[in-house]
Amino acid sequence: PSVSARTLEFHHGKHHAGYVSKLNAAIEGKDYADMSLEDIILKSSANGDNGLFNNAAQTWNHAFFWHSMSPNGGGKPTGGLASAIDKKFGSFEKFSEEFINAGAGRFGSGWVWLVENDGKLEIVKTGNAETPVASGLKPLIVCDVWEHAYYIDYQNRRADYLKTFVENLADWSAVADRLKA
Ligand code: FE2
Repeated sequence: PSVSARTLEFHHGKHHAGYVSKLNAAIEGKDYADMSLEDIILKSSANGDNGLFNNAAQTWNHAFFWHSMSPNGGGKPTGGLASAIDKKFGSFEKFSEEFINAGAGRFGSGWVWLVENDGKLEIVKTGNAETPVASGLKPLIVCDVWEHAYYIDYQNRRADYLKTFVENLADWSAVADRLKA
């Protein structure tokens, strides 16, 4: 009910699949072919291999996005994650507001993340394929704010889509596990 089957058919079946197949074609026969996806992101970023970086980062970002959601998601975080959010943002409600505003305020295509940076939580916006993986931050959860993520279901109402992500889809137990790991 929050994200339609049609959106997922396009988003997972066409957009994400397209990044994966372009990445596989680009690394064939190169040193990159034997590297982990994370290492491909770091190396292509350092080398300025922009085309390869974009497809590698989009492959990683989307896989992480699917694992940021659950059919039984939403609600409120508990335990250590709840305390860390309260400490940084004041309350879960304030965090939600900041996260939604950050995603809605990201001009053009990109992503909004909750990351751990040096033991502290932070909301980070990235443009296009940019990913916190390349800057050594620890991603905890992400929402895709490219138009392809929401246009079929929400048209121009990106903030409504972000609100639904936070309230109905976000997998806080997975976030708690990542924070502990
Ligand atoms: Fe996407």
